[in-house]
Amino acid sequence: MTADLSTKYLGLDLRSPVVASASPLTGEVDSAVAIARAGAGALVMPSLWEEEVLEEELALNRGLETGSEHFAEALTYFPAVDELLTAADRYCQTLSEIKQAVDVPVIASLNASSAGGWIHYAKELEAAGADALELNLYHVVADPTVDGAEVEARDIATIEKVRAEVGVPLAVKLSPYYASFTNFGVAAVDAGADGLVLFNRFYQPDLDPEKVWYNDNPQLNFFRIEEYVMGDISFVDGLNCNTGYFKLANLLQTSTTAAHEYGHTIGLDHPDDLDIRGQPAPAIMYPRGTISDPHFQYDPNAIAGKTGGTLDPKYRKVTQADIDALRLHRLSFSDKGLAIVGGFSSIYHEKHSPPPSL
Ligand SMILES: Cc1cc2nc3c(=O)[nH]c(=O)nc-3n(C[C@H](O)[C@H](O)[C@H](O)COP(=O)(O)O)c2cc1C
Repeated sequence: MTADLSTKYLGLDLRSPVVASASPLTGEVDSAVAIARAGAGALVMPSLWEEEVLEEELALNRGLETGSEHFAEALTYFPAVDELLTAADRYCQTLSEIKQAVDVPVIASLNASSAGGWIHYAKELEAAGADALELNLYHVVADPTVDGAEVEARDIATIEKVRAEVGVPLAVKLSPYYASFTNFGVAAVDAGADGLVLFNRFYQPDLDPEKVWYNDNPQLNFFRIEEYVMGDISFVDGLNCNTGYFKLANLLQTSTTAAHEYGHTIGLDHPDDLDIRGQPAPAIMYPRGTISDPHFQYDPNAIAGKTGGTLDPKYRKVTQADIDALRLHRLSFSDKGLAIVGGFSSIYHEKHSPPPSL
């Protein structure tokens, strides 16, 4: 016999009181399904950040003006239309995929940066099928002329406006940092919140730029890894560089991108001839976009060089020729028997930094 744990949250019927809070785990179909199967009564997707949507649009515009990048790992030479969708479009797409895949309510979370953005995206998330909305009110106020009362009044106005525009239940996620927490909580409920989520926890970058700038330890390489990368590529900052920027999706599953990019960090370039039809398994330094025999393509039936008709990087392997190209016998070793392969680029990448023009 199983205990009946059913309950209500925001007016929704939940089969259990365990709600998975916003994080990357609730933002992907596979992990969302696993969480629901494990017994969660509802899922809160990670926040859709209006700033991210805007930043991406700017980055895309800049990226479209950028030339081709020599050391970058383009997913393919022919970007899929999907890659031109905005972060908001992709969020809504994932939301409806998760909704179809799980049998528990899916709550969308929003962190907007403008009054219009709160309403616009709240409506989009509702239209995409969210069972409820969670407003993640976190933002940094850096204007010395704005006092705490004004900040709180704006947040309350945001709740009121969103409440007036959407029909689904509304939760408001709060931080513990209010001068009078209960006063604000009551005001949020009066403004239309159906529930309060306590508490958000903020994480800060724990890597100081100075640590990257002045790094002289060859055992440390610094790569920023983000879900979104301008130009949709992973890159190192050049040959013999120990810094760069990786797109998370490039590193997952059967990807060999990390090994390929590591090759660049220790001085290996792409081969000159990027048409390897008729040759055996490709070496690790062949970039995506290389023309290969059909059985090494993403899609064996695709026409060479067209979408799907380029080398699937999962077939790349480190070969003896790659090792030989490092010319390890030419290294000079210290008294302690140590030698350094590669160099220091020491670039601290801010979010969404453009690929280097090499
Ligand atoms: C990796 C990670 C990502 C998160 N992303 C979000 C987010 O997008 N939106 C949000 O409102 N909270 C986010 N959170 C906060 C969590 O949902 C949760 O409120 C917070 O971690 C507090 O719970 P805890 O003390 O058990 O960690 C995130 C937390 C983590 C650890």
